[in-house]
Amino acid sequence: MKKPYVIAVIVQKGGAGKTTLAINLAVAMEGKGKAVAIIDIDQQASATKWGDRRESNSPVVVSAHAARLKSLINDCKENGADFVIIDTPPHAENQALEAARVADIVLIPCRPSLVDLEAMGSSVNIAKIAKKPAYVVISQKPARGSLADEMKVAIEDAEIAPVEIGNRIAFVHAYTMGQGVIEYEPKGKAADEITQLYKFIIKLRGKCNEQ
Ligand SMILES: Nc1ncnc2c1ncn2[C@@H]1O[C@H](COP(=O)(O)OP(=O)(O)OP(=O)(O)O)[C@@H](O)[C@H]1O
Ligand SMILES: [Mg+2]
Repeated sequence: MKKPYVIAVIVQKGGAGKTTLAINLAVAMEGKGKAVAIIDIDQQASATKWGDRRESNSPVVVSAHAARLKSLINDCKENGADFVIIDTPPHAENQALEAARVADIVLIPCRPSLVDLEAMGSSVNIAKIAKKPAYVVISQKPARGSLADEMKVAIEDAEIAPVEIGNRIAFVHAYTMGQGVIEYEPKGKAADEITQLYKFIIKLRGKCNEQ
């Protein structure tokens, strides 16, 4: 049985967009007919509560301790999951490391701000310790200003995903309603950004399968 492709979403900074990225990617994957589970190892349980607000039972959202990651991923494999997305807490390096260790890739959402940039460095190191490829995803990018571009220049040590996520109210509304932006506003810009990010991940998974 094929192992699911596991994505850890980590960053030490609170509010950077980890949960938003995790749930929206899961909805995008599901929309493409993939079987996907979210494992929420954050005690705040934001992804789990989002799952509770959903009218649908999928994607499956499991709230768990980081120590159970390996066995849960094995359960996901036995249940035929194509993808597993791990949502992690802020300010918890050990948990982020445990997630990175069981993952195929690490996504690091980062808002265009100096505090986020500084927090991102330790997340990049966590991915390095776990020996996993990491991609910074520019998140909540303002419609105006060059801060995000200036920030990209400052990111030397990590790859930057080719898709940027804008600061868009659709993300807030969808989250509140237990939806993904693809469900909330299928033709909106937020949905388009998440679809592009999904395609990028499919490419990465393709490369991983070739190895
Ligand atoms: N691209 C975006 N555009 C607008 N609002 C966003 C975007 N991404 C996230 N938000 C909002 O910012 C807030 C924080 O996002 P989120 O909960 O995803 O961050 P987090 O990194 O998971 O936070 P924590 O570290 O506390 O778990 C939420 O209210 C969310 O709706
Ligand atoms: Mg969160």
